Amino acid sequence: MSQSTLSLPGGAKYEKNSQFAEATSLYPDRKVRFVMRLFSKGAREYDFLLRILSLGRDRFWRESVVKESGMRSKRGARILDIACGTGLLSFEFARKGALVVGVDVTREMLDRAKELDLTRRVEFVQARAETLPFRNDAFDAATISLATRNLSSVEKSFAEMYRCTKRNGSVISMDFARPIERTFSAFYLFYIFRILPAFGLLVSRHWNGIFVYLANSIARSKSPEQLASILSKVGAQSTKVTRMTHGVTAIVSGQKI
Ligand SMILES: C[S@@+](CC[C@H](N)C(=O)[O-])C[C@H]1O[C@@H](n2cnc3c(N)ncnc32)[C@H](O)[C@@H]1O
Repeated sequence: MSQSTLSLPGGAKYEKNSQFAEATSLYPDRKVRFVMRLFSKGAREYDFLLRILSLGRDRFWRESVVKESGMRSKRGARILDIACGTGLLSFEFARKGALVVGVDVTREMLDRAKELDLTRRVEFVQARAETLPFRNDAFDAATISLATRNLSSVEKSFAEMYRCTKRNGSVISMDFARPIERTFSAFYLFYIFRILPAFGLLVSRHWNGIFVYLANSIARSKSPEQLASILSKVGAQSTKVTRMTHGVTAIVSGQKI
């Protein structure tokens, strides 16, 4: 199998498996093509619109992922951030001194992330979560935020994240969920199905489409407990679920022992 090396700022090196990289460049299935089309436009507005849609909570959600990883005080920790988009979570880790590899399937999101990177501690790689081009046990933690709903296969992606994580490292997913409390849930569904798409239309038809997709993907998404069960099936131990902001998002995490 042919291999090449990916160098990170700080001298860290990861082996890239070019065979995987070539395989992923084929992008065979329909969902990934849909997702790439969806995210290929609108990368410029993404951070601002996420702030609006989360009513300003998105920063807290990302900080909670960093806290969950235990990497806050470990300078030089190696983090793999899957479906990194415009790099918001990658930068959060990098600002805490981590060396980060941000992976995303959509070139335009990665281009925007590179433009926004002031830390110079993140290496961006275009690849699919389902077939990661990294060797086993390479990272202290693997994360994915606001993206499990977009994956072609959560099972394969979690298995890949787990494979690339070192022993004693953690695999962490943070994503939108459905609030449990009834009254709040009714308000929330109205917000995501009615208010957000209308707001999106003020920006562009494309953003209207993204918000419609977002609402539907949240309504149909796997519950945090189902995600935790998948994570334990791929081998993670001590899996746990932490709901945030009345259950609007949840962190699902597990350890590689
Ligand atoms: C809503 S954005 C989340 C970005 C970022 N993680 C955040 O928290 O803001 C979803 C991202 O997932 C990426 N994505 C979707 N499916 C993917 C896959 N199978 N492999 C890698 N990236 C994927 C999309 O290209 C998009 O950039």
